[in-house]
Amino acid sequence: MKDFDIRWVRAQFPALRQEVNGRPAVFFDAPGGTQVPERVIDALRDYLASSNANTHGAFVTSRRSDEIIANAHAAVADLLGCDTDEVVFGPNMTTLAFALSRAVGRELKRGDELIVTRLDHDANVAPWVALEERGAAVRFVDIHPEDCTLDMDDLKRQIDKRTRVVAVGYAANAVGTINDVAEVVRLSHHVGALAFIDAVHYAPHGPIDVRALDCDFLACSSYKFFGPHCGVLYGKREHLTRLQPYKVRPASEEIPDRWETGTQNHEGLAGVAAAIDYVAELGRRASPEASTRRAQLLAAYGAIRNYERGLAERLISGLLAVPGLTFYGIRDPERFDHRTPTVAIRMEGHTPRQLAEFLGERGIFTWDGNYYALRLTERLGVESSGGMLRIGLVHYNTAEEVDRLLGALNEIART
Ligand SMILES: Cc1ncc(COP(=O)(O)O)c(C=O)c1O
Repeated sequence: MKDFDIRWVRAQFPALRQEVNGRPAVFFDAPGGTQVPERVIDALRDYLASSNANTHGAFVTSRRSDEIIANAHAAVADLLGCDTDEVVFGPNMTTLAFALSRAVGRELKRGDELIVTRLDHDANVAPWVALEERGAAVRFVDIHPEDCTLDMDDLKRQIDKRTRVVAVGYAANAVGTINDVAEVVRLSHHVGALAFIDAVHYAPHGPIDVRALDCDFLACSSYKFFGPHCGVLYGKREHLTRLQPYKVRPASEEIPDRWETGTQNHEGLAGVAAAIDYVAELGRRASPEASTRRAQLLAAYGAIRNYERGLAERLISGLLAVPGLTFYGIRDPERFDHRTPTVAIRMEGHTPRQLAEFLGERGIFTWDGNYYALRLTERLGVESSGGMLRIGLVHYNTAEEVDRLLGALNEIART
């Protein structure tokens, strides 16, 4: 594999050229949304300039729209390792998860159970808790607070023949833990439950293979992996066909159309395909022998994981040396295969908001609060005092940016 070409990567993203108070902006806000390559911006503009129309019409812009939407399905199918009709688009992951949970709710009986976790974003909790109104009971899998990993023994204790759905995150948006989702799927299928994987936080960081995972559903969101604001849901064909979504009568009963309620964000879908092509090009550059788009995407994620791991090691070892700092999540470099480069901290004497403001003034963008991983901040006992400061890196970040952050945190730690 060739060296990671960070100069080429950064040149693709126009937003990275911004400055704050005369210094280059540092985007450590990726888990809240990533920046986009120029080709994504071009794709949105080109769609609106030359293809803007509704679908299935008898004229050229409508036909182009159909083609662009089909291309987006094909691109996501390559990203996730599935067929094009198993890819459903929607406004965002949250809306898709609610649509799916409503459809699942139509099959539930009193006494059925659903399993969610205390590690997850609420978008993978609330849609399942909403089914309590249909008589289902919701169980929560606990975490190990010392490293913010999922308590798999607790999951094994709670899962049984009554379980209908197990909803688990691929990776935790608040603290970066990567869960053993293959094992979660195995345990779910063992009791006849459906496995729903929230891959929103994982998708910019690692390869996804829904066939190998054998999950029933997996959701992600293109604005977290270098694209525009569009949600993505993978569903096994048999489930997308069997379950009954809420839909309008004239809309097609075919999959995936029956799930794609209303008119889609066509320009956004053009951008989704462009974002995936950006990742594929990164893969071609890392491994020129990769010939299919799927192979290029897998090569890209190999290079991304490798590069991000180096950044995570530098960041976390630096953070652990800052006086008065509390670190949440996996800190042992030997276990970094089980985390993304997203970390959460607190610092004695400063609220997370104060830290974010201090860094923001220096052009370093981080998040404070709970980032909707509300059960986690409650479980860790930090919700009532401002949550945590989240520093979220992706592959367009650099070691120099990490050093700037560490310098600033050491400065505030001394005040
Ligand atoms: C892990 C995770 N799941 C779900 C969501 C919700 O995604 P969306 O904004 O597409 O609804 C987010 C957003 O931050 C997230 O980080």
